[in-house]
Amino acid sequence: MTERDTHRVIPLVDARAGLPIPGFESIGKPGLKSAGQVLDQRARPLRDLRISVTDRCNFRCSYCMPKEIYTKDYPHYLPHASLLSFEEITRVAQQFLGLGVQKIRLTGGEPLLRKNLEQLIEQLSGLRTLEGKTPDLTLTTNGSLLARKARALKDAGLQRVTISLDGLDDAVFRRMNDVDFPVADVLRGIEAAQAAGLGPIKVNMVVKRGTNEDQILPMARYFRGSGIALRLIEYMDVGATNGWRMDEVLPSAEVIARLQQELPLIPLEASQEGETAQRWGYANAQGKHDVQQGEIGVISSVTQAFCKDCNRARLSTEGQLYLCLFAEQGYDLRGLIRGQGSDEQLRQAIASIWQARQDNYSEQRGRMPAQAGSTGRRIEMSYIGG
Ligand code: GTP
Ligand code: 5AD
Ligand code: SF4
Ligand code: SF4
Repeated sequence: MTERDTHRVIPLVDARAGLPIPGFESIGKPGLKSAGQVLDQRARPLRDLRISVTDRCNFRCSYCMPKEIYTKDYPHYLPHASLLSFEEITRVAQQFLGLGVQKIRLTGGEPLLRKNLEQLIEQLSGLRTLEGKTPDLTLTTNGSLLARKARALKDAGLQRVTISLDGLDDAVFRRMNDVDFPVADVLRGIEAAQAAGLGPIKVNMVVKRGTNEDQILPMARYFRGSGIALRLIEYMDVGATNGWRMDEVLPSAEVIARLQQELPLIPLEASQEGETAQRWGYANAQGKHDVQQGEIGVISSVTQAFCKDCNRARLSTEGQLYLCLFAEQGYDLRGLIRGQGSDEQLRQAIASIWQARQDNYSEQRGRMPAQAGSTGRRIEMSYIGG
């Protein structure tokens, strides 16, 4: 690339679908941040990039894609031409790594529904962080296709997986996924991931009071000592379609209290900055952490917001950049990717967007009246991923 190319001003793209990019007029001119760790307005670094590779899913969990709305004829699924290609995703991911990202998580919808996903993983695993290391490359899945795909994912360069599983009882699980999917198939998927070496594996369980709270103890017993960390997630008011109600949230403090009655736990230190989960270790007879028994986590975004260290950026399937799970709008990176801009200009645009970031939705919600919920405009989790 020539000096002239680098300083060329990006031709105006159609950014109607997204928010205006802060400092857009200056992109391509000298003086803008274009490499190295970026910080937002609350001094939070950009570390974690979540890439949604499809907005489709074969489950209909009521807290995410309720069946009444996500019918066969749901009109808002993205057409194929809107999706970022693997080459486009890899190019944009590379720019994020140049600004400090250390971890890349593929999400959906259900990411394993995207055709030839292994090819994307292969491309992403060839990228390097600012320090020249391989980024932590992981994926969140409902596990339904994992038994078939675990080996190929590992061979392509995927390091680990997180599996969503909301109960062990077959009837409860079938009711939660709402497509009558048997729990045994997901458990086989988890075993296949373990056998393929896709660890450390985490299992995410969204807890809804009155729906699957009776599964907390069986799940903890099942995964204790398996090397897999179970994480219990407070049901969140994300999106606009799940009919969230505060009285269906089981606060993490109560989850821990229930577990403690049978399985003594002690709090553990955070393992990394900006971690979503609070970690608890199973205690031995001496009241010390028993490493063999392992640990569990609670993710308490409703009762104990963790925005203070939030270092996560989310790229939607069609290339919109979201700065918060609860955002109403994103920034149209696809327009830039498909325009004439250079890599450096794309990086500058991402840096400007991150540097202007203020988002702290969960902290704000903590200060709202208890029943305050969705505004009706928020983006759905199936579109930007967990
Ligand atoms: P690792 O621990 O590195 O595997 O990643 P993680 O803790 O980010 O885990 P994961 O991506 O599995 O996220 C777990 C769950 O936490 C998600 O499914 C969401 O329910 C919730 N979550 C993740 N990120 C955020 C966030 O930025 N804000 C809020 N409010 N919730 C989040
Ligand atoms: N509340 C909490 N977690 C949710 N997820 C999806 N919707 C919600 C919600 N309303 C998370 C689950 C699932 C992942 C894909 O997204 O953890 O495992
Ligand atoms: Fe699909 Fe996961 Fe949403 Fe359930 S939570 S509908 S498995 S994307
Ligand atoms: Fe980050 Fe938004 Fe979640 Fe807060 S609510 S932790 S800012 S994604």
